[in-house]
Amino acid sequence: MVYTKSEEQVGLMKEAALLVSKTLTEVAKMIKPGITTLDIDQFCMEFVKDHQATLSFYNYHGYPHNICASVNDVVVHGFPNKTALKEGDLVSIDLGVILNGWHGDHAYTFILGEVAPELLKLVKVTKESLYKGIEKAIVNNRVGDIGFAVQEHTEKKNGYGVVRELVGHGLGTELHEDPQVPNYGRRGTGMKLVENLVLAIEPMINLGTHKVFTEEDGWTVKTQDGKVSVHFEHDVCVKKNEALILSDFSIIEAAEKANINLNSSYY
Ligand code: MF3
Ligand code: CO
Repeated sequence: MVYTKSEEQVGLMKEAALLVSKTLTEVAKMIKPGITTLDIDQFCMEFVKDHQATLSFYNYHGYPHNICASVNDVVVHGFPNKTALKEGDLVSIDLGVILNGWHGDHAYTFILGEVAPELLKLVKVTKESLYKGIEKAIVNNRVGDIGFAVQEHTEKKNGYGVVRELVGHGLGTELHEDPQVPNYGRRGTGMKLVENLVLAIEPMINLGTHKVFTEEDGWTVKTQDGKVSVHFEHDVCVKKNEALILSDFSIIEAAEKANINLNSSYY
């Protein structure tokens, strides 16, 4: 069942998405070698609760934490833990909130300090591929057009692995609504996109093989070859000429540029 939203509901969803962006902006300020993903989890939990919202991942199908913190070869659904982050780590923070009954769900990959140029390129290309997908989120296009655009930019043009097992999704009063939004596919296939359909588009792109496995905890998804993976996610509303992006990377990017602990050549 596909649920489109009224203009008013889209406005409420923008507030939820923006609360996630604001929280990730605070993460961009605090993240540095030495802090742990459990510190980040605790901070996010308090920040979200202080803004009259609840955390949507906690206990979702039994998920045992507030956020997902996926470091290096962890693709998604990493458990926050007490290991100190270190220079050179790539850390995806994925956060979901419910504000006034509406979900916001997005993710951003942070780079700690100097990292190898090939990893910087993976981060850059993955973020670019998200925007290539978003460009296709317009009325009368099809879901397959989004995945095709992501896959072209990452797999075909740059030889990266596009994770198949996990996909983007519709978003609304539920965290996961129809349709599924794969990061691969064929042009002109899949559901036709309609105005005010809200999608979470989330490329998960591996430096090496696209193959992944799930650890014995039942959640942590890792690359099979142990190479790094990057994940960016935006909440997007389908419109006629240009998709409306509800979440906001610009405030996160400004904060990461100002964070001297993230002084990589990337920024
Ligand atoms: N952004 C992820 C997703 O849409 C996060 C889900 S984590 C979970 O699937 F714990 F809530 F499952
Ligand atoms: Co999502």
